[in-house]
Amino acid sequence: MQTLVTGATGTLGTALVSRLQAAGHEVRAASRSPPADGTADWVELDLASGDGLPAALEGVDAVVHAATAPTGDTKAVDVEGTRRLLEAAADAAVENVVYPSIVGIESIPYSYYEHKLAAERVIEDSDVPHTILRATQFHEFVADSFDTLSKLPVWPLPTEMRIQPVAVGEVADVLVEAAVPDPRGRMAPMGGPEVHSVGALARGYRTAKGLRRPVVRLPIPTATFRAFRDGEATCPDRAVGTVTWQEWLQADGFSSGTPTSASGSGSPADTT
Ligand SMILES: NC(=O)c1ccc[n+]([C@@H]2O[C@H](COP(=O)([O-])OP(=O)(O)OC[C@H]3O[C@@H](n4cnc5c(N)ncnc54)[C@H](OP(=O)(O)O)[C@@H]3O)[C@@H](O)[C@H]2O)c1
Repeated sequence: MQTLVTGATGTLGTALVSRLQAAGHEVRAASRSPPADGTADWVELDLASGDGLPAALEGVDAVVHAATAPTGDTKAVDVEGTRRLLEAAADAAVENVVYPSIVGIESIPYSYYEHKLAAERVIEDSDVPHTILRATQFHEFVADSFDTLSKLPVWPLPTEMRIQPVAVGEVADVLVEAAVPDPRGRMAPMGGPEVHSVGALARGYRTAKGLRRPVVRLPIPTATFRAFRDGEATCPDRAVGTVTWQEWLQADGFSSGTPTSASGSGSPADTT
């Protein structure tokens, strides 16, 4: 299998490249800037303009499309870029385009999710054989978000929002299994082993980091917040991932001392 990974330098893309190689795929890695390790054949690809598409798809059997621009021009990259990719994949007679998407995007009014939904429709409306797997938020994404907050003396957070984080490697494993010339259409979604409130996740992170910042409940009166609070981003009946937040924090190496439960009560100063 010659397999193209778009977004190969991202959180998911990096996990995909090594796993696809281990599974025997000839991997072509695509992104705008080259990967740091240089272990895969790399092509420069900009989905916002389409530059590099024909060369990226030459001789490709399957594509795992992990490129995304959540904080950039999402429409140009995730929607129109996916359309460009699918047109080029049709020309190259690709046998399966595998697309990671996100649980709950049809129920959560958030512009990035609206663009992800539009990208799913682009894929489903095309003639290219495809596989779509929706997953919940990655542990890595949650930790990155807390890293951004971690220097603040107080952590204001929408503590009641609920998510079901999953290890990116476990999502990559399922996508690698799906990256064969046997498209599955829409797969059952996958989530991590546990649903947590953002407050509980923050307290677990704080303990693992050995920090003592108060977590303060930040009320956000929006429909997006209410959808997360009501569990629309979770799929508890599809708790396929096995690595818990607490296990992931410990394995990530920054855990200090004896970790307490991620759902523990934390510091007395908390207002969650
Ligand atoms: N993060 C999560 O919690 C989560 C959960 C479920 C599903 N997903 C889905 O999984 C996929 C991967 O997410 P991720 O978190 O791994 O993303 P990420 O870490 O932000 O990586 C994004 C990748 O896209 C590339 N990219 C950005 N703009 C591009 C452009 N114009 N043309 C070509 N490549 C471009 C980036 O490389 P360059 O900047 O070098 O081009 C990078 O390799 C996405 O579809 C996302 O919706 C994510």
